[in-house]
Amino acid sequence: MKNLKLIQTKSELKALIKELKNVSTGLVPTMGALHNGHKSLIENSVKENDFTVVSVFVNPTQFGPSEDYDKYPRTLEKDLEIAKEAGADVVFAPNPKEMYEEIYFEEKETTLVCPPYKYVNRLCGKSRPGHFDGVCTVVSKLFNLVKPNRAYFGKKDAQQLFIIKRMVKELDFDIEIKECDIVREENGLAISSRNSYLSENDKKQAPLIYLSLKKVKELFQNGVNEAETLIDTAITYLKDFEVEYVEIVSKNDFCPPVSKNVQKGDIMLIAVRTKESRTRLIDNIEL
Ligand code: PAJ
Repeated sequence: MKNLKLIQTKSELKALIKELKNVSTGLVPTMGALHNGHKSLIENSVKENDFTVVSVFVNPTQFGPSEDYDKYPRTLEKDLEIAKEAGADVVFAPNPKEMYEEIYFEEKETTLVCPPYKYVNRLCGKSRPGHFDGVCTVVSKLFNLVKPNRAYFGKKDAQQLFIIKRMVKELDFDIEIKECDIVREENGLAISSRNSYLSENDKKQAPLIYLSLKKVKELFQNGVNEAETLIDTAITYLKDFEVEYVEIVSKNDFCPPVSKNVQKGDIMLIAVRTKESRTRLIDNIEL
């Protein structure tokens, strides 16, 4: 197994990146509490690059004031083990005061990278105002620090992936964005760092989210292509949750299909809260 280096300051990271000559670099941005979903992203990067940097940073600018920033799991020791097993070269785990300038903590404001409103006022962005500004800001900072050739993101956060791909094009980042498949538990539940919040009862209900997506895909493959029918079908499986949204969007613009008829390749997305622990869970499937 390769040696893994833990770096916690931007200056040390920049110095190391400067030393790399004729080396292809992959970046895997994460908020830690690493699991098999993250591990598959790291493994993809290790396969495709000479050098892999995993960032572990619970980013304050992407959390709303009533969200779970404080209770978000922080498990650096275990993260280092997982990153090492997956073959990473560096884990970059700065603290917020290292990542952001001092003035951010006084003024609670920083320069932000803001994606178009059309894409951030819907789906996950609707219940999380400012979330994608925070995501794009921290991802841009990481791109500037690591200067990777490729960066790895999971399809689990489909809206995030869409917005980041757009940002990379529009801000001329010379970085290839690699899309990685969703990794699931045996029961179908998409793995997430937030699954640790689930109560025993919630854990029993949670696989219904993926089940509903699979049922919808089956219907679509059998010729049902009316968006409303497919959405209503998914909702019937989600009675035990508080449904935030169930939507179908086109892969190209992340907007609902204009014709109301679903095309192959469109994506159904779900966000729910569980009844007991009120954990927010998201999932999606390509139809
Ligand atoms: P985090 O939730 O830690 O996720 C880091 C990356 O892992 C994201 O690209 C996410 O889509 C991917 N991922 C999470 N669970 C996955 C699963 N079950 N299968 C496949 N990929 C999965 O997303 C973030 O952090 C942050 O917003 C970040 C981009 C790091 C910016 O702070």
